[in-house]
Amino acid sequence: MTAKELRTMYVNFFKERGHAEIPSASLLPENDPTVLFTIAGMHPLMPYLLGEKHPAGKRLTDVQKCVRTVDIDEVGDDMHLTFFEMLGNWSLGDYFKEESIAMSYDFLTNYLHIPPERLAVTVFEGDETEPADLEAERIWMAQGLKQEQVYRYGREENWWGPAGQTGPCGPDTEIFYDMGKPKCGPGCGPACKCGKYVEIWNNVFMQYNKTADGKFEVLKQKNVDTGMGMERVLTIFNGKTNVYDTELFLPVMTRLNEFLEEAGRQMPIRERRIVCEHIRAISFILVDPRKITPSNTEQGYIVRRLIRRVIRLLKQAELGSAHLCQLAEITIGQYEETYPELGESHGFILEQLQKEYVLFSKTLDEGLKKAGRYLENVGKSGVLDGELAFKLYDTYGFPIEFTVELAQERGVEVDMEGFHARFREHQEKSRQGAAGKFAGGLADHSEQTARLHTATHLLNGALRAVLGEEVSQRGSNITAQRLRFDFSFGRKVTGEELAQVEKIVNEAIEKKIDVVLEEMTPREAYAAGAIGVFSEKYGERVKVYTIPGYSKEICGGPHAQNTGELGSFRILKEEASSAGVRRIKAVIGN
Ligand code: SER
Repeated sequence: MTAKELRTMYVNFFKERGHAEIPSASLLPENDPTVLFTIAGMHPLMPYLLGEKHPAGKRLTDVQKCVRTVDIDEVGDDMHLTFFEMLGNWSLGDYFKEESIAMSYDFLTNYLHIPPERLAVTVFEGDETEPADLEAERIWMAQGLKQEQVYRYGREENWWGPAGQTGPCGPDTEIFYDMGKPKCGPGCGPACKCGKYVEIWNNVFMQYNKTADGKFEVLKQKNVDTGMGMERVLTIFNGKTNVYDTELFLPVMTRLNEFLEEAGRQMPIRERRIVCEHIRAISFILVDPRKITPSNTEQGYIVRRLIRRVIRLLKQAELGSAHLCQLAEITIGQYEETYPELGESHGFILEQLQKEYVLFSKTLDEGLKKAGRYLENVGKSGVLDGELAFKLYDTYGFPIEFTVELAQERGVEVDMEGFHARFREHQEKSRQGAAGKFAGGLADHSEQTARLHTATHLLNGALRAVLGEEVSQRGSNITAQRLRFDFSFGRKVTGEELAQVEKIVNEAIEKKIDVVLEEMTPREAYAAGAIGVFSEKYGERVKVYTIPGYSKEICGGPHAQNTGELGSFRILKEEASSAGVRRIKAVIGN
């Protein structure tokens, strides 16, 4: 079976069972500032899992592009990937455990023809707050699974979500394929990492919403969210033992092997896999319409880290930028039929790879020599000084993870605390140097975005106070460095007005006001004077964030607890965004 056939078979199976097919969303989450990439099919569906009505109905299915950076260190084994495609089906307050499990079993055994004895499933064993999921266990056994194929685990294994800091979550039942190897020991089961069991599908029973203050609220609708690892299932279905032996990676791996042969060089299999896997992830990240480019912050940092890792591995084998680009071209060719954006951005991908190659290869050799010396000299401590790790970052452009990898190869640890301390110091300096701009990057992403979000509310309130109530929000975008706010207004805002707006926001910050969160119906919110955007999208209950005296808005959050956390506020720029819409970019900082 090909990947194309598998995607179609999955989606059709669910379409035949009343599901509407929806397109894959962007790899960059639009509604969740707390994570860098879309990590699951449910991620773009968060508002609907929380109760908003989805225009396509209550049963949905799709193939979603995902990136999971947490799995980066596992890449090179048989099954882990940073980029992968997730096949998914959802019930938005429609069917629940019974039908979900029955459909999964039907698909696995009657369509993928997996012998039932090769399946193992896990269910939530329960804890002080949530009972054991005996219902899921019973349903699995009613399908025909034996007791010894059903394993119970705790929250670590059998609770999914939220995807970021907040959002829908719940107990899950995970489905594993037994690769047929003997158990590695008496405790071996689906949670074991020995490779006997490979997770292929996860059915989450999403009944809760985790809020910014860490509480689990019961959702008004019970959802099912499932996700199947496309590459893993393709591997298993075709009787392979690892994803690199599938059609998805074979062409690129073959070419890499040819390059190595021509160069008369060796590369360990794990490293060859990393090269092929990362090139695919890099290509998919670079084609996002937001034009992510390698940088030192956020998604740009991840893509830089992936590219630099590949460059190093290739250079070690005396392969260069032409080889890198050829491997990327094979990957693009492989996917452009299914994901036309790859073909469309073909030139951009190659251009970014070349640029980064030129930039990094300048310092790489010397950096590697330096790193080698530093690592030889660690002595008995076995720890690389944080200061030196920082030097490799700052002078030679070595992402810290890269240095950690080099150190690990020599059995050395890196003093991460020392590195971060030095990093923060440097950040502080460049912040002062860049007149209030943040260096960002390794800063706490979630806290910083929450603060910028609160600054956005203050800005909105201050603009209304200075320019009048005709000002209404048209868009908002937050990165680790700055906020961007689009609003309706018919002319350029004068320097004087901007100064007034800045003054009001800074006054609110200096007063150190607590940000108040309340929940109510949209009607109550409007009656209380709250402003909102896209009012038709709100569910029955909304969150209202109030900064007394300055702002009251319907908003999903998260926010700073107190305006004092923002430090100070500065407008960098005011410009036209489109007809009748102005755009302000602003920064905060201590
Ligand atoms: N959200 C769940 C997961 O990622 C199921 O899709 O495993």
